[in-house]
Amino acid sequence: MSYPTEEAVREALTGVIDPEIRRPITELGMVRSVDITDDGVVTVGVDLTVAGCPLKDTITKDTIAAVSKVEGVTDVHVELGVMTDEQKAQLRATLRGGAAEPTIQFTKPGNLTRIYAITSGKGGVGKSSVTANLAAAMAAQGLSVGVVDADIYGFSIPRMMGVDTTPTQVDGMIVPPVAHGVKVMSIGMFVDEGQPVVWRGPMLHRAVQQFLSDVYWGDLDVLLLDLPPGTGDVTISVAQLLPNAEIIVVTTPQLAAAEVAERTGLIASQTHQRVVGVIENMSYMPIPDGSRVEIFGSGGGQAVSDSLTQALGYEVPLLTQLPLDIAVREGSDVGRPATIGGAPAAQNTPETDDDQFVNPKVPHNADPVKGSPAAEALVEVAQRLTKRARGLAGRPLGVTPQ
Ligand SMILES: Nc1ncnc2c1ncn2[C@@H]1O[C@H](COP(=O)(O)OP(=O)(O)OP(=O)(O)O)[C@@H](O)[C@H]1O
Ligand SMILES: [Mg+2]
Repeated sequence: MSYPTEEAVREALTGVIDPEIRRPITELGMVRSVDITDDGVVTVGVDLTVAGCPLKDTITKDTIAAVSKVEGVTDVHVELGVMTDEQKAQLRATLRGGAAEPTIQFTKPGNLTRIYAITSGKGGVGKSSVTANLAAAMAAQGLSVGVVDADIYGFSIPRMMGVDTTPTQVDGMIVPPVAHGVKVMSIGMFVDEGQPVVWRGPMLHRAVQQFLSDVYWGDLDVLLLDLPPGTGDVTISVAQLLPNAEIIVVTTPQLAAAEVAERTGLIASQTHQRVVGVIENMSYMPIPDGSRVEIFGSGGGQAVSDSLTQALGYEVPLLTQLPLDIAVREGSDVGRPATIGGAPAAQNTPETDDDQFVNPKVPHNADPVKGSPAAEALVEVAQRLTKRARGLAGRPLGVTPQ
């Protein structure tokens, strides 16, 4: 009986194609190890780009099928692992074919755009609602505002901002649709309705990178990024691509949610990004008799603010406490944020269909929904965020160390 060589096994592995990237796993640096026992049992170590990769079964099956065909192989085992950050960086370089990283205007020296990344520990706490409302409020103040929906799997910004057009392309640049004076970019504009986005780390990174480098943003005063919950691939990609982004942590008052939010905020100490503050959402439900019901408990926002202040060594304020407010939910559902008037029934300023094409520099002067405490509070936060002094974290200082 002939004994299988490592060379023959590796040769066979060149036939295993990564189903997503469509290149052999050997070229992508995914084959970690090949071990062969004396009786012809082969164990292949395969590093996936992300733990729990949805395509891991396909890769395992294809690996077993390919290696089984090698002469002398009696059995095949696949041991799955996960790529390190260095391996992922190498993979991205391979995918770009050695071309330089595309440039991102927001990190160039002299760039004056304020960048806020809205993050949270848990899902469903109101990141996207906060992002959409802040963006619309800032545009209504006359600022030039862009929003990147960095929640690639769970995109919700197009609906909340009322964008239903697809971006146009000019000279290889993507021109973002404009809604309520805000330039908006989301993966939701590129996928068919109802289709899930099933991508892994490198593809997610590439999508976020393209949103930042291949989109014609023009001169923005403010760029807001709606991040997915937690500290996954996209959060790390944003930290790498936009080290000068400042972080806003959204949490509910619930202490369990606050603990998770805190961990997300602490990532900033590793990425050297600045946390500008905490927004507590769904803090209470106002009752017509003037009392408040604290549905999700209380104290979470303050707890996150206190512990981040202590851990990061600078003041991380609790920026606001937003009540549960029908106007916020309705505004999100109809694509007109409450900070600029919300759902048509509560609308203060009529807008035309032409609104999509309004010059983002032109102030809208739209008012928040009357009697909506959350909308008013968000308008106030938007003002504070655009007036405050710019942080120096992650910013090139323009000096050369001796
Ligand atoms: N203050 C509020 N009052 C009423 N409804 C709210 C409020 N904040 C958010 N909502 C509603 O709660 C739901 C979740 O909010 P949102 O989608 O903004 O959360 P998220 O943190 O972005 O969620 P995900 O993690 O899924 O991206 C939405 O339906 C939104 O309209
Ligand atoms: Mg969201």
